[in-house]
Amino acid sequence: MSLVHSKINKANANKVPPRWRGEVERVLITQPQLARRIKLMAREIEQDFAGRETVVVALLSGTIMFLADLMRHLNLPLRLDFMGVSSYGAGTESGELVITKELRLDVRGRDVLLVDDILDTGKTLSRVLPMLRALKPRRLKTCVLLNKAARRVEKIKADYVGFEIPDYFVIGYGLDFAERYRQLPFVGVLHPHIYQEPPPKKLK
Ligand code: IMP
Ligand code: MG
Repeated sequence: MSLVHSKINKANANKVPPRWRGEVERVLITQPQLARRIKLMAREIEQDFAGRETVVVALLSGTIMFLADLMRHLNLPLRLDFMGVSSYGAGTESGELVITKELRLDVRGRDVLLVDDILDTGKTLSRVLPMLRALKPRRLKTCVLLNKAARRVEKIKADYVGFEIPDYFVIGYGLDFAERYRQLPFVGVLHPHIYQEPPPKKLK
């Protein structure tokens, strides 16, 4: 599903709850749109992984909401593990990648579904995929909620994509700016004035 030229963008313009209007420019993907699409993604994944136990490997922390919603629709035997990968870049640019949590489950010979929130430059997945491949899974597929193809620098594609989005910095439904806005139940576009200001000091 592509939001790049869709009317949905305009239709969602006024849906930002009053509490967030100073920071969120508009809603890009609404809760019902997320719910509908994620159910369909789960069906597709279910068919491909049918009959095998699947190890879901989710990247922290942006996947929390997507993962929770996707998993409850996955009618498959599965195990769940997390990997922590942070890019310590300033503001909205991705910087150097640091592994903050290693995988604990053994994925050798297993069917693995790697889940991330958004595929942007591709640096994260192009670093994580070889690490997982080295653990010799039987199968390794990637699933992302959002794909921002315009910013790709690494040659990489996800097997399952929820939404194609234009080059906006988005927040909500797990995605953050400086660890904020993850709790928003929709995917929204951050007001550029938020990230053009100097990054906020550490929260007390
Ligand atoms: P990549 O390594 O550039 O592909 O970016 C992947 C990671 O950067 C994602 O897992 C997100 O955590 C973060 N990211 C990239 N674009 C956005 C965005 O628009 N909003 C919030 N986080 C983003
Ligand atoms: Mg992030």
